[in-house]
Amino acid sequence: MITITQLPPDCWEQYKAIRLEALQTDPLAFGCSYEEEANFSESTWRERINIMWFAMLKDEPVGMIGLLRGTMQSTSHKGLVVSFWVKPSMRGKGLGKELLLHLQVIAPDQGCRKMVLDVTMSQQAAIATYNALGFRQVGVLHQELYIHGEYVDQFVMEWLAPV
Ligand SMILES: CC(C)(COP(=O)(O)OP(=O)(O)OC[C@H]1O[C@@H](n2cnc3c(N)ncnc32)[C@H](O)[C@@H]1OP(=O)(O)O)[C@@H](O)C(=O)NCCC(=O)NCCS
Repeated sequence: MITITQLPPDCWEQYKAIRLEALQTDPLAFGCSYEEEANFSESTWRERINIMWFAMLKDEPVGMIGLLRGTMQSTSHKGLVVSFWVKPSMRGKGLGKELLLHLQVIAPDQGCRKMVLDVTMSQQAAIATYNALGFRQVGVLHQELYIHGEYVDQFVMEWLAPV
């Protein structure tokens, strides 16, 4: 059975392992590279884990999603969806939708009325997941990332909490 939960900072090594696996498996999906993050310090992982939710199979994280909240008065009502990933062996079972839906349920209770994200155009499963849960494409970012010697275009998508 899968549960969606946050993990305490002491679980930073589990988070580091799944994040580095994500960066190695799907480099086009993310704005950072495996090489850059492999050198992050323990304190960086301990800090970053605070914005993450994990899909846990027994005690093992098999998927994750992050929400980076705005820190200014003018931006605290919104969050940037980051680090959305499910292990390839666990895909197609509804975990991705479960993780995103979890954010949509808990975020408004915490004052987050809007979510935004950038998604690489080649990530069809991610785009389908966002569309299925009410995110709408509001823009295109050309040559937004430069990964493995190629420029990558992205869609900008947003979701507004129902009133
Ligand atoms: C995006 C991702 C997290 C989805 O995880 P998942 O557990 O497979 O998602 P689900 O099983 O809930 O499926 C969600 C939808 O994706 C769609 N989908 C799955 N594979 C697809 C594919 N290859 N092409 C198009 N759509 C696809 C399904 O139609 C499904 O919608 P449905 O249930 O209405 O049919 C996963 O594919 C992944 O980790 N991708 C690589 C990382 C990535 O692109 N992250 C996004 C960063 S912005």
